[in-house]
Amino acid sequence: MSGPSLRRQDAHSSIHEAALNEARDLRSVFQKCLLDGEKEKALHVAEITIEHWESRTLKHADAEEEGLYREMAEESPELLNVVTQLTRDHDLMRRMVNQLKGLLAKGEIDERMLSYMDSLLIIDSIHNDDEMNNLLGHEAS
Ligand SMILES: [Fe+2]
Ligand SMILES: [Fe+2]
Repeated sequence: MSGPSLRRQDAHSSIHEAALNEARDLRSVFQKCLLDGEKEKALHVAEITIEHWESRTLKHADAEEEGLYREMAEESPELLNVVTQLTRDHDLMRRMVNQLKGLLAKGEIDERMLSYMDSLLIIDSIHNDDEMNNLLGHEAS
């Protein structure tokens, strides 16, 4: 998505919410598979979950760093620190998704995956709030 639409808080927030809700649903389905002992199904859901984080949230993060963050920091240098913090959140999420991929590659489909999925949800949720309040909120004020 191009810079200008990501600057709109309502449009940008909708992108966050849609991705986060889907990730929450996938996490619940994954947990149910584990509880039911359905290993094959759990493996398939884990694949879909990783693909979801990569194609939605991490892709969104790449686009922000290449466009929105750079533009806003250039226009308002006082936002540099905020942009650095938000980029660190992205990096943490990238690393967690990589950890999930490592577990998947080794066929280790268990509670550790659930911990990473929960951690991703928590970080993304806090990150989204900070992006709205500290970055886009700055422009509105
Ligand atoms: Fe972001
Ligand atoms: Fe965002």
